[in-house]
Amino acid sequence: MSRPLPTGFVLGAATSAFQIEGAADRRGETIWDRFIAQRGLPDDGRHACDHVDRVEQDLDLMAELGLEAYRFSVAWARVLPEGQGRPDPRGLGFYDRLVDGLLERGITPWLTLYHWDLPQHLEDVGGWRSRATVGRFTDYASLMADTLGDRVVNWITHNEPWVASMLGHRDGVFAPGGTDMTEALTVAHHLLVSHGAAAQAIRSRAPAARIAIAVDCRPAVPATDREPDVEATRHFDGFRNRWFLDPLFGLGYPEDMVATYSEQGRFDARPDGDGPVLEGDLELIAQPLDVLGLNYYTGIRMRAGSEEDETPEVLPGPNPPRGHTEMGWAIQPDVLHDFLLRLMRDYAPASVMITENGASFSDAPGPDGRVRDARRIAYLHGHLAAALDARAAGVPIEGHLTWSLLDNLEWTQGFAQRFGIVWVDHATQRRVVKDSGWWLRDAIAERRLPEPLEALEALEAERTGR
Ligand code: FCB
Repeated sequence: MSRPLPTGFVLGAATSAFQIEGAADRRGETIWDRFIAQRGLPDDGRHACDHVDRVEQDLDLMAELGLEAYRFSVAWARVLPEGQGRPDPRGLGFYDRLVDGLLERGITPWLTLYHWDLPQHLEDVGGWRSRATVGRFTDYASLMADTLGDRVVNWITHNEPWVASMLGHRDGVFAPGGTDMTEALTVAHHLLVSHGAAAQAIRSRAPAARIAIAVDCRPAVPATDREPDVEATRHFDGFRNRWFLDPLFGLGYPEDMVATYSEQGRFDARPDGDGPVLEGDLELIAQPLDVLGLNYYTGIRMRAGSEEDETPEVLPGPNPPRGHTEMGWAIQPDVLHDFLLRLMRDYAPASVMITENGASFSDAPGPDGRVRDARRIAYLHGHLAAALDARAAGVPIEGHLTWSLLDNLEWTQGFAQRFGIVWVDHATQRRVVKDSGWWLRDAIAERRLPEPLEALEALEAERTGR
């Protein structure tokens, strides 16, 4: 039994610039180059997957899999090495060719403007803590719309503003490594304002553009029904989900969280008050969204006392317990389903695209060269089925983009975590399509979700038979 895919439901894959491009000698320095060097992390973005120099091969790979959509990000520092000023024609030319290459192969581009790789030059003058960066981002968005607006329809302004602001400025674990909650809230506000300003700039240059933002939701459920756990869950949800979704959908910052943060002296939400909010900002943030991008990996069970805590239930490792990926993330497709329904109830987005969803498992080629990543197939099957159930229940989900096309540089975890549907040997840059990649190919070609076991048998037969 396999489930048919509804007409028009789009399947594809996603990547981001810093994680795959390499060719760092042909772009400006970014906060991630600096952060990785400062922390002395073993893997960096100098070569990554060498995608810039292998773009034709990677495009052909996407065509072989029959991808209908491909989400990539533009490296700001490749088109504007200092984040502003004179564009580098080599950088613009690269994205120009990438987009043409996608369109020639019938693959719809989904372009992300900011996937965390701020040009270091802008960081040096205040980064996202500074309001001026909103202006720089809007100029950069305008440049990209002028260059690609005639061919790219789907524009994602930001990837995961929660991660960029909180992991990067509160927890110090992501670039640029800040550890101040007040600054992190300022950064979050500037990211949101820059989303709105960029949306306007893109629309004025490319009237057919569809504007999206990709938020990373971490749905939370209370560990017990005790009041303190319920309250901790509400707080976590405010911190992690509502703080971004409410203003994007015109509801302003959530009052309960504003009360908490202002009591703590961390955020003044009044326009022209002591905080970063200027008159008109909330209107700017709430530009009509054509598509809500949702990045979903796992949910969290909250206990009182651990609010604002991101500690996964198990530690990452090569042998995750059953039910977890190697990131230590619990596999919970039903949580995705329920969260999609809640999004509909609370925000009624015009459309939802699952802009990231996938799993880290380090299965490598066996003696026959094949990568038997059955656990990834099961993960994708389960989450796609959950998304289709939510769609059937009325959530306007237009598609699903698997994270990720290639095994790539998983930020601070380097090449150790493998999310690809294509295996990459990072020493030789050899690519091998995993079983999950073939599974996705079959899903697209046959317009149905092949059952994992059936699919594995078919792949076995394909290998030995045909
Ligand atoms: C998301 C990021 C993406 C990748 C996945 C695993 O938070 O957007 O770049 O790292 O997680």
